[in-house]
Amino acid sequence: MNSKATIIPVASGKGGVGKSIFAANLAIALAQTGHSTVVADLDLGGSNLYTCLGMPNKYPGIGDYLKSGVIEFSDLIVQTPIPNLKFLPGDGRTPFTANISYEQRLRLIQEIKKISARYIILDLGAGTMFNTLNFYGLAYKGMMITTFETPSVMNLIMFLRNFMFRVISNGVRHNRKVLDMLIATFQQPMTASSREPLTVPHLLKKIKEMDPGAAAQLQKTCSYYRPRIIFNMGDHPDELHILKKLDTALANGLSLTADWFGFIFFDDAVRRSAKRKEILIVKYPDSIAAENIRRIAVRVAKSWDRPIPDSAQRLMEDARKQYRKK
Ligand SMILES: Nc1ncnc2c1ncn2[C@@H]1O[C@H](COP(=O)(O)OP(=O)(O)OP(=O)(O)O)[C@@H](O)[C@H]1O
Ligand SMILES: [Mg+2]
Repeated sequence: MNSKATIIPVASGKGGVGKSIFAANLAIALAQTGHSTVVADLDLGGSNLYTCLGMPNKYPGIGDYLKSGVIEFSDLIVQTPIPNLKFLPGDGRTPFTANISYEQRLRLIQEIKKISARYIILDLGAGTMFNTLNFYGLAYKGMMITTFETPSVMNLIMFLRNFMFRVISNGVRHNRKVLDMLIATFQQPMTASSREPLTVPHLLKKIKEMDPGAAAQLQKTCSYYRPRIIFNMGDHPDELHILKKLDTALANGLSLTADWFGFIFFDDAVRRSAKRKEILIVKYPDSIAAENIRRIAVRVAKSWDRPIPDSAQRLMEDARKQYRKK
């Protein structure tokens, strides 16, 4: 693996919340500030990232690679009109690649890790299909996008819950007894007599009773994960008042700390650019959404590798500043 590449998966629990537009424009903003960047369309079964980049759907992509067996992976990566930015197409030209096999997924993941760039941005499909959870797991720090609407926030938590449960299952896959216990626990229906909620602390406690060493190791592994959350289509900075509740839900249910990483206002310029296949931050550089995304790119370049202290407070102050400029 190219040790300098930072892989940033962009995921969401709910569809249509702005992942592809964000992934494309974040990649462009990073490229525009001089970082060599590759943006990859890993929404297999729903690839449309090329539209956000103003590119034609004419290049072979991951779908062709998986089906052909003769295409070199590195030949898929094409230069975009933006200097420093390359694009890895998905399966916009190849049907039925949504359900790739375990072996295909491993092959793909190995190839992605070999890509040479400063940043590799991955646009993922919505939801918790195994493909998506595995691509999200390519880095300890991934981005999650949500709007402020309840279904979107609930699905964000559900995504992270499924993701952490998968991390835990993978961590005990060599211990058949523990794995069977986990599978049985996951399959148990919620009945009046089993009202104990399924949480990460609860699962770790059960694992500890059977294999204390594995539980200690898993506790450590879980603590490496640090999602970076972006709120999209915001109306007002006060909407960020939900952060306290979310902090508690993530800590108690999933033993996770998130960094509240970005706030993008609802902006008609996004709609306009999407309709016309234009690139948001190229065509509308002065729009508020473009400005918000550029600020997130600066944050990525400055502090991606470090936890962000007081991220809720900082994001609130930043969103207020942006709101005054609107
Ligand atoms: N900040 C914003 N302001 C206004 N509209 C927005 C904003 N962000 C996204 N949109 C709208 O949301 C639509 C969906 O965006 P996008 O396709 O990027 O979402 P997605 O999460 O990638 O969807 P999918 O889950 O289907 O892949 C866009 O066509 C755009 O019109
Ligand atoms: Mg998308």
